[in-house]
Amino acid sequence: MIIARADTPVGEVVLRRRDDVDELVVNGVFAMDSAEVTSELALADAAGSPPGRVLVGGLGLGYTAARLLDAGAERVKVVELADPLITWAREGVTAQLGRVAADPRSELVDGDIVDHLDGTWDAILLDVDNGPTFLIHDHNRRVYAEAFLRRCLQALTEGGRLVVWCETASPELASTLERIAGAVELISVPVTRQGRSFTYALYRVVRTTGGYSPPWL
Ligand SMILES: C[S@@+](CC[C@H](N)C(=O)[O-])C[C@H]1O[C@@H](n2cnc3c(N)ncnc32)[C@H](O)[C@@H]1O
Repeated sequence: MIIARADTPVGEVVLRRRDDVDELVVNGVFAMDSAEVTSELALADAAGSPPGRVLVGGLGLGYTAARLLDAGAERVKVVELADPLITWAREGVTAQLGRVAADPRSELVDGDIVDHLDGTWDAILLDVDNGPTFLIHDHNRRVYAEAFLRRCLQALTEGGRLVVWCETASPELASTLERIAGAVELISVPVTRQGRSFTYALYRVVRTTGGYSPPWL
């Protein structure tokens, strides 16, 4: 059943519900559902504990943002390209989106993360597309490009973390991140979805301008 649908300048956004599972389809491509959110939660956990002030690219169904809030984040700013999702969050169209919107520590901003990178953050989490290997929006190529990733790193506090969600490992992205940050960590997240196995990839880098060493080095 379709519970919400809207056309946006970057394509159609649809929220569907089957049984008790919410599903998000963006631009005709399955983006995610609420049945399997291990990697969305792992993305939030990769911000560190407590997460501090976090900038998130991509609201989706709100699982990453909600996890950050549950983990005691001081502030969570979420930039979302499809503005109907923000409206639906404020209307509480799904319980999860509703609780993210209602939390006084969260701020939902309509726009493209590349154009809304301001301020200083303890973590920046990017989950706006399937990753550089399988883009839903072609214009998101710039999200995975060195220039933007370098800007993200510069917007972090010392020891702050930049984490990028990908539908599969991307050696090219890994080497870009290694080049700008000195070291990159791959966090593999195996999931089973409707009987099929996938291994999603989270790439994490840490801003180190002084003597700080990331815990995995
Ligand atoms: C897979 S979903 C994010 C899932 C989210 N982590 C969660 O827990 O539900 C990707 C979201 O990013 C949004 N998006 C796509 N490109 C974007 C961009 N350049 N800037 C901000 N949001 C973007 C999509 O509209 C979609 O809502």
